[in-house]
Parts: sequence; C-alpha cells; structure tokens
Amino acid sequence: KIIILDFGSQYTQLIARRVRELNVYCEIHPYNHLPEFDDTVKGVILSGSPHSVRDENAPEVDLSLFHQKYPLLGVCYGAQYLAQKMEGNVLPSKIREYGRANLSTINNDHELLKGLSDNTQVWMSHGDTIAEVADNFEVIASTDSVHVAAFHIKDTKTYGIQFHPEVTHSLEGKLLLDNFLVQVCGLSQDWTPNSFIESTIADLQEKIGNDKVVLGLSGGVDSTVAAVLLNKAIGKNLYCIFVDNGLLRKDEFEGVLKQYEGMGLNVKGVDSKQRFYDALAGISDPEKKRKAIGRVFIEVFDDEAHKIEDVKWLGQGTIYPDVIESVSVKGPSATIKSHHNVGGLPDFMKLKVVEPLRLLFKDEVRRVGKTLGISDELLGRHPFPGPGLAIRILGDITPEKVAILQQADKIYIDNLRSSGWYDKVWQAGAIYLPVQSVGVMGDERTYENVICLRAVESVDGMTADWSHLPYELLAKISNEIINNVKGINRVVYDISSKPPATIEWE
Ligand code: XMP
Repeated sequence: KIIILDFGSQYTQLIARRVRELNVYCEIHPYNHLPEFDDTVKGVILSGSPHSVRDENAPEVDLSLFHQKYPLLGVCYGAQYLAQKMEGNVLPSKIREYGRANLSTINNDHELLKGLSDNTQVWMSHGDTIAEVADNFEVIASTDSVHVAAFHIKDTKTYGIQFHPEVTHSLEGKLLLDNFLVQVCGLSQDWTPNSFIESTIADLQEKIGNDKVVLGLSGGVDSTVAAVLLNKAIGKNLYCIFVDNGLLRKDEFEGVLKQYEGMGLNVKGVDSKQRFYDALAGISDPEKKRKAIGRVFIEVFDDEAHKIEDVKWLGQGTIYPDVIESVSVKGPSATIKSHHNVGGLPDFMKLKVVEPLRLLFKDEVRRVGKTLGISDELLGRHPFPGPGLAIRILGDITPEKVAILQQADKIYIDNLRSSGWYDKVWQAGAIYLPVQSVGVMGDERTYENVICLRAVESVDGMTADWSHLPYELLAKISNEIINNVKGINRVVYDISSKPPATIEWE
C-alpha cells in the first residue's frame, strides 16, 4: 500500500482517489497521527498544505521514519518541506504561481517523468517557491518561471514536485502518479473491486465468526452494498432492518423492500410511519425536525434489534470520506467520536461496529456494488437525505402534506427518468412550500400551495449548480403536477447555486 501523509491540503483526498483509480490501495493519515511503517508500505506521498514551510507553526513530520526507507514523493508543500529540510531554501515567490503552467524543460529519462510530453501542462497552486536546493538534488523539470518544478534526490527514490498531479488540469498527472506507483515503488496494480470483495469477505468471516449482525438499510447505495457484502460473508446471521419513517418517496418502501428480498437479503420492513408523524406534529424548526427523526429512528431500531437474540455486531455503511473526516488534520484531538458515555446510549449502540466499506470512496462503492450484481437502478439513485421529505416540506409536517409532496415528486422524477435527465443530474427532488397563492381552474378561483422543483449538478454535494433542464421538460412537469396533484396550483424552479444557497431548503 501507499501511505499519503496529509498536511491539510484541499487536494489530499484527490491524490488518494487517483491512486485508487490506478488500482493501488492507499491510506490517508494526518501528519500528526502517523501510522506504523511496516513492510506492507511500498511508498509514501507527502501532500500539499495551506501552510508555508516558513510558518512558525508549519506542520512537521519525522522524515527519518520513512525517508530513504520507502520511495517518497513530495507534492507542493511536501516537496518544499523536503527541499527545506535537506538544506535547500524556500522563499515567498515573487510572481503568482497559480494555475496552468507548462514544463518547458523536462528530463523524461527519469522514472517519474517517463512518457510525459515535452511542455506538458501542469497545475500550480502555491505562494512559496523552492529557491535553492542542496547539491545532491537534481532538477528534473522546470517551467519558464519555476526552476525547481520537479526534483530528484540523487541515489535515492525520493522525488518532489511543486505542481499538483492529482488535479485534472495537470494533463499528464495521472501518468506521473502511475510512474511513481509502478516504476518507482514497483507496485502491481491489482487492487480491483474483485480483489476488494474477496479479501473483505474473508476478513468479515474471520472477524465475525458465527456472531449475528444487525444493520439498518436506508435504500441508499452505501447501506445496500454493505449489506450485500455482509450477506455474502455471513448469510443468515445478517439481520437487516428497513424502517418506513413515512418520509420516503412515493411507493419507495414497498419497491425497495422487494428489491432487497430479490437480492436474498434477510430484511425486515418496519412500518413506523405513525410514530414519526406523531413525533413531528407541530414542529417547524428544521433542526428540531432532524433531531425528532433521529431520536425516533434510534427508538425503533433499538426495539427491533432487541428482538434478535444474542446479536453482537452493528453493521454500518460508513465510507472513507466519513472516516477521514473523523481523523482529519484539523481535529486530531477531537478524532474518533467518544464512546465514554455508553450508559446513556441505546442498547444497539453498545454493539461492536463492523464497517465493510470504511476504506472506499463513493465511486468505488458503486464499482463494488456493480461487481456484486446490484442493479444499476439502485446504484444510480440520487442521494436522498436521512430525514427524507421532512426537510422538503417547509414548516410543520402532516401526513396530508407528505402525500401531496410524494405525488408531485413522483411526477417530477418519473419525467426526469423518461426524458433521460435523471442520470445527468446529481440530485433532484420536489419541495413543498407553505405558501398559498391565487389561481384559476376552470371558472373557479383557487388558493393553493406551491411546489418548487430542484435539480443540481455536483460532484460531492459540497458545491452545486442548478441544472439547466430544458424548458419543454419543465413545462410538461409543471402541467402534470398542477393537473393531477390536488392542493397545488403553482410550480416554480429553483435556480440558485450552492453556495450561497444549499441543495435542500431546510
Ligand atoms: P445541503 O442542503 O447541505 O445538502 O446543500 C448537501 C447534501 O446533503 C444532503 N443532506 C442530508 N443528508 N441528513 C442526510 O443524511 C441530513 O440532515 C441532510 N441534509 C442535507 C442533501 O440531500 C445533499 O445531498
């Protein structure tokens, strides 16, 4: 495996994704929370950082743990850090070294740069620059303004690059990383969905043995893939629980339950609609709604988990970005959530936790799911928030409002599917606004509510832009909703980006 030491750069996850895309397993560790360097490690990458190596509190790491012991690649801050520690000199750069640049001289005899084109485009993003390097450094690529764009330390497998190979604007960045992994580290690219599935199933069997596991299914990709993996590993000892909180899309509970059964999962559907509606009655504040839903979910899940005799484990669909988040550079001391207060937790939370996907990125979860034979329909589903339609009905929730929103949402989503737009947008849904406006239907005046349609393009939900759905499609959806959904006489389309708006309205 490759170890990526994170100095806090916004691009660190991207480095990991690229390495994984090259079918090599890697782990991100914060620089101040080092892993063990044993013989499973085949190379180390030092990330960039928002800091300058000249800062008083610049992130530091004990290089002797891995330098000259494993192949090493410093990226941006990582490169500057190496240069500075080895008697070089890093200074604020006089010109802006930000954005596209070209490697006007490049020595592609070096393993790291093999096959890269002359003048290849790279992406720079730094305020410092390496001004001087020690005698045993050789400069192996330069741009017109950055002399030390890439260096090699003679007689070692240590390299540094001041540009970012992980971003797509570095056009041959992936080839450079491929060179590092294969040529420099000597890794074979055999980390594939199949190898992941095989080794994970074996690990799960060893870890869990004959114990029972309980897992909450949500209808989403992560919990489904986690369940299918566990099912392959331990079969009937996996007990899945799928809760109908009355806030799912129209017909979703029945439809998804049927699909789960078709996959051979041992799943129990629990209709708890009324419990959720009762808990939500009269609550308008978004955070209070979320809390109420979370609380009732835990109660329902705890009740159900108790019905399973002698269950020892809680299965979860946690994925790698959540894991990295909880042990990030920014919060090393606030790392793993504390379980000290076990007394106050529901019983199922005292179970041991098993998370088969904790090493995977979202796209990898999908690839694994596909390899496991899970349908494209399920794997390609848009993200859907845990609190469901409760945060798409502004203000208080009633079963009637839920029914209206479900009908409108179904018309919307069905039309996105039939027009081919469903897979082009990242997330879509309808929102029920507690606003009444005047309309005319036939000879009558109406005074009814508004449905807002939302569709966004995004990569990870952190930022988003509204989708440019065709007018004709919007017109068709609007007509169908107004003509078929009683209580709605007006449809609007949300054209706000995130930021400053959010994807959801609550
Ligand atoms: P926002 O509205 O913050 O949403 O732009 C970003 C992504 O997160 C989802 N979301 C949630 N998911 N519980 C969830 O499980 C929540 O409370 C929640 N709020 C927002 C949202 O659907 C979008 O994909």
